[in-house]
Amino acid sequence: MANLKENEILDIYHHAINISRKAGDYIARNASESLDIDYKGRANMVTQVDKKSEEILQEEITSRFPHHKILGEEFTDKDTDSELKWIIDPIDGTTNFVHGYPVVAVSIGIEYDNEIIIGVVNNPLLNEIFTAIKGHGSYYNGKRIEVSKVKKLEEALLATGFPYKLNDHFYKNMELFKKFYENSQGVRRAGSAAIDLCYVACGRLDGFWEYDLNPWDVSAGSLIVKEAGGRLSSFSSEKFSPYADEILATNKFLMEPMQKLIQENL
Ligand code: IPD
Ligand code: CA
Ligand code: CA
Repeated sequence: MANLKENEILDIYHHAINISRKAGDYIARNASESLDIDYKGRANMVTQVDKKSEEILQEEITSRFPHHKILGEEFTDKDTDSELKWIIDPIDGTTNFVHGYPVVAVSIGIEYDNEIIIGVVNNPLLNEIFTAIKGHGSYYNGKRIEVSKVKKLEEALLATGFPYKLNDHFYKNMELFKKFYENSQGVRRAGSAAIDLCYVACGRLDGFWEYDLNPWDVSAGSLIVKEAGGRLSSFSSEKFSPYADEILATNKFLMEPMQKLIQENL
């Protein structure tokens, strides 16, 4: 963050929180309304609320920071020569949203010089907001959070998610699900990768893995895990990237045992 001043970072951070609340309020107000649903695939839905939420975020970013890049899940791909890029998921957990299952988030990750420096994940249905600035820790509703201290896989509560398409990764992950289930205290599948990552960050979960995610699903949550003292990688020991195909996120202790189990079973 060499060339960015502390007050510039704080300004962007506060704006990210404010607009996640603005989009979140819109989502919450429309949660019990009848939804206009389009299908991107068999079970991959998008509603008018996803689109409007992205529109709110895009307009709010552009009006305050007209020069920043923006990448959004639904339609935004604004390219400029700025080193700052907002990576947004207007609703992470659309299937949950459609069914009224309150695990839903507005996810905003901000990249600077190819690194995520700010993360905001707001669940407007449960009034839970997770935030982080690189080098300054992670917060849940304004209170500092840390990853869990669970040391053994047998004592861990884990989570994963599955791709919408019943592709090769779906079937491979069913196998991994079985193995992790046999070797832990349980595996959850809540339907929002951004929230799964925040739950690792605050110790509600001890580890999380998933295939086929996109940068808007994981940019914010991955920084929130890291700043809470957690670890990130791909399924091997390779360095994590929000643009990569696989993500493994754990507390301080479970990275190696989770990687080992994945390697043995792929
Ligand atoms: C989905 C959620 C889900 C994950 C899917 C994602 P969406 O995002 O993060 O947990 O398993 O792979 O696509 O479509 O609700 O924004
Ligand atoms: Ca998503
Ligand atoms: Ca989405």
